[in-house]
Amino acid sequence: GPEGKLQLVQRHVRAFPDFPKKGILFRDICPILKSPAALTAVTDLFEEHVRSHQLQVDLIVACAGLDARGFLFGPLLAQRLGVGFVLVRKKGKLPGATVSVAYDLEYGSAEVEIQEDAVAPGQKVLIIDDLLATGERQQSGTELQQKVEQADIQGCMVVIELRDLKGADRLKPHNIFSLLQY
Ligand code: PRP
Ligand code: ADE
Repeated sequence: GPEGKLQLVQRHVRAFPDFPKKGILFRDICPILKSPAALTAVTDLFEEHVRSHQLQVDLIVACAGLDARGFLFGPLLAQRLGVGFVLVRKKGKLPGATVSVAYDLEYGSAEVEIQEDAVAPGQKVLIIDDLLATGERQQSGTELQQKVEQADIQGCMVVIELRDLKGADRLKPHNIFSLLQY
């Protein structure tokens, strides 16, 4: 059942104190990727959420960059749902006409962009990433979507939500769905 899947996912997240900077407790999702069962459980739980909430989705957008952890989970879900997948990348990586947004992270700053023709007007988009901290990156993702083509954002999904950083508040009125909360 869903309870067992969540526990399986939870057992595959490690915490590293003071990485990449002093004071940051880094939540490492690499063990999930090393476990076929845990990775399947993440995709199952995301898919179950989309289906049970009857979210309408035309595209799934990973809200992450170059070594982008959103890219690790997004395409698996997109394939399950039979929808496309679009890249949001750190600046300077995508060819052709792009739209970009700058933002700050829990431990740095960045600028992300999307191809101007990635999303069609009114397309229903689900934004997916590994982790929600301050919500800056998710916010930049939602802003990008709206900047590009007035995409209709159905929600944001992450494996891990760091509650203390109040990312969900920043992202209102968009809904956040997270599997694990710390
Ligand atoms: C991390 C993480 C999220 C983001 C969350 O990415 O993968 O994308 O930070 O933080 P926020 O909610 O404060 O925006 P990171 O910049 O470390 O890069 P990566 O995905 O390329 O590893
Ligand atoms: N991205 C932003 N904050 C993070 C954290 N504490 N652990 C892992 N990834 C992060």
